[in-house]
Amino acid sequence: MASKAVYLNGSYMPLAEAKISVLDRGFLFGDGVYEVIPAYYGKLFRLDDHLQRLENSLAAIRLTNPHSRDQWQAIFAPLLAADKNQYIYLQITRGVAPKRDHAFPANVAPTVFVMCSDILPFADTDTGIAAVTMDDSRWKLCHAKAITLLANILHRQAALDQGSAEAILVKDGYVTEGAASNVFVVLDGVLVTPPKGNAILPGITRDVLLELAEKNSVAWREDAISVAQLNCASEIWVTSSTREIIAVVELDGVKVGEGVPGPLWHTMNGLLQAYKQSLL
Ligand code: PDD
Repeated sequence: MASKAVYLNGSYMPLAEAKISVLDRGFLFGDGVYEVIPAYYGKLFRLDDHLQRLENSLAAIRLTNPHSRDQWQAIFAPLLAADKNQYIYLQITRGVAPKRDHAFPANVAPTVFVMCSDILPFADTDTGIAAVTMDDSRWKLCHAKAITLLANILHRQAALDQGSAEAILVKDGYVTEGAASNVFVVLDGVLVTPPKGNAILPGITRDVLLELAEKNSVAWREDAISVAQLNCASEIWVTSSTREIIAVVELDGVKVGEGVPGPLWHTMNGLLQAYKQSLL
């Protein structure tokens, strides 16, 4: 398969030939969901978990999953390369309706798009990043991986504009997550992350880290994190499928801990890398 091939509604084609209608509800309304699934040397990472989350996102927006697990795997396979790290991006929208109308269209097939991109080495894994806190302006469907990402984009860009790499979002005095990541902190030696609910995306990387912490006797808990706790955490990390675990070494212009990725970050990053290796 040519390296820039993508999948659109049943066919593979070069990226430049993949076209959708301007009446697609993804384009008009942001009416759709997506997934980002890493693949290490051709092996999809935690595929079942990603497909389960896709199922949950589709249920949240009242769309039927157009494919079975096996069909999805068959769609992804030709896009993957065995010699590098990549991620699958898949998007499903409510399809192309005959006219623009907020109400769901009847008898319209969803649009299914899949592409695959390289995961490049992260320049800031060893150094960590700066982050800024900001008021979480999002809605009550953050548990669904909706393509409607305007608030997340504005948060991320506001962080970049301030010379930071990520926004850490705060709702009613408590941390929710990053603009495109989950948040972990270390409080009195214990790893803490906010509980699941409609205020955060249930990150797959987040779940993997909690599993690894449990298996390796690293103390952890799911708990609300106040801004005061965030500000006195000895370590802060953000996690995602494409960036794995990145330490936040500066928050709102103030050093976190020693201003370098902390000891628990090293432990958990080591465990994550070993776990990835074990699946190859
Ligand atoms: N985003 N929270 C939000 C808002 C996210 O957008 C993401 C990931 C996560 C982490 O989830 P996971 O560990 O399953 O990747 C949490 C992806 C990578 C993206 O939008 O590109």
